[in-house]
Amino acid sequence: VIETVKAREIFDSRGNPTVEADVILSDGTLGRAEVPSGASTGDREAVELRDGGDRLMGKGVRKAVENVNTEINDALKGLVPFDQAKIDQVMIDLDGTPNKGRLGANAILGVSMAVARAAAQSQGVPLYRYLGGVDLELPQPFFNVINGGVHADSGIDVQEFLITPVKRESFRDGVEKIANTYHTLKGVLGKEGYETAVGDEGGFAPKLASTEAAIEMLYRAIKEAGYVPGEEIAIALDPASSEFYSDETKKYTFEGKEMSSDEMLTYYQELVKKYPAIISIEDGFSEHDWDGFKKMTETMGKEIQLVGDDIFVTNPAIFAEGIEKKVANSILIKLNQIGTVSESIETIKMARANGYTTMISHRSGETGDTFIADFAVAMNAGQIKTGSMARSERVEKYNQFLRIEEELAGYAKLARFPKA
Ligand code: PGA
Ligand code: ZN
Repeated sequence: VIETVKAREIFDSRGNPTVEADVILSDGTLGRAEVPSGASTGDREAVELRDGGDRLMGKGVRKAVENVNTEINDALKGLVPFDQAKIDQVMIDLDGTPNKGRLGANAILGVSMAVARAAAQSQGVPLYRYLGGVDLELPQPFFNVINGGVHADSGIDVQEFLITPVKRESFRDGVEKIANTYHTLKGVLGKEGYETAVGDEGGFAPKLASTEAAIEMLYRAIKEAGYVPGEEIAIALDPASSEFYSDETKKYTFEGKEMSSDEMLTYYQELVKKYPAIISIEDGFSEHDWDGFKKMTETMGKEIQLVGDDIFVTNPAIFAEGIEKKVANSILIKLNQIGTVSESIETIKMARANGYTTMISHRSGETGDTFIADFAVAMNAGQIKTGSMARSERVEKYNQFLRIEEELAGYAKLARFPKA
């Protein structure tokens, strides 16, 4: 049974405080988990409890830590760690708000993940095996190699330019292809006189003139590395467009122009026509522009993957509305958007039942915790994005897949998108 639950304040990859939770079982097992934090967050995400005041720019998490050490510890003490759903429900009920704002989603998620880890460890099985049983699949990875938006000072409006090894023999083979392309991209950018310092997610942050200029660089790098764009290495975008949408004017301020929802749609249609290596676009429309997102789904949803991130925030209730209204055909899964392991699993199951693909995601503020790698394998999520080939808090997740692939010694299935 659970003996002690406790937390501490640690720091994330941006130097901001975050929660680390420990769950100690009566057999002496320790499960530990660290909580990530976003920058381009959706309005309806579960609440990250921050202290406010002067200390650490108001971003301290001492209250969240205190909530773990007192109320959550009292409520979970004596419970069986294998009943994840019950433990998560106890914390949801204890919090008592619809957005986990009282105890903090950072407090609750840290404990939720640490319970799963402790349970796995106590049974002597790896986390992916504990959560996933025998039906396991290695996801297709999406690497964010050019950073823009609020993740870098590059001045590029689109937040993420991702590349994915659609053709690969193994997870390792895919990572090698991306490593080659990543290093080649650095060379290409350098040759053109651009900076090659990296942004929050380990992608380069060059001051490129436009989205198209960035995509041109990706095409060049893919080809110079010896691969065929689209066939071997494909491209995905996350404009994170809520960040440049005005709720008042209902316009997008994009590349120096005020664009209506219809103009944005035309832009995306032409972009995909010009660059057929693009196979996925996330948050092409704002979380406050469901009509725009729906129209994009109607017109482009047959051809490419349209991922809902800020618009669904991994929330089963909000996602149900999206399914009903036929918005997007894919959902991004971020555990800290909803705040428990169990609710994240529920959202993934809903996606599967309704023909939506799922992509597990890191946050732009990360830690060394590789929970999401095991989680993606266990859930047969199909896809994951966890940054570039730089910054250890990103690369460690990819390295964890290499370990898992080795442990599964050739019998793990490889997820593929698009399906052949
Ligand atoms: P965030 O960005 O972690 O800063 O929210 C990730 C994303 O938008 O996908
Ligand atoms: Zn996003």
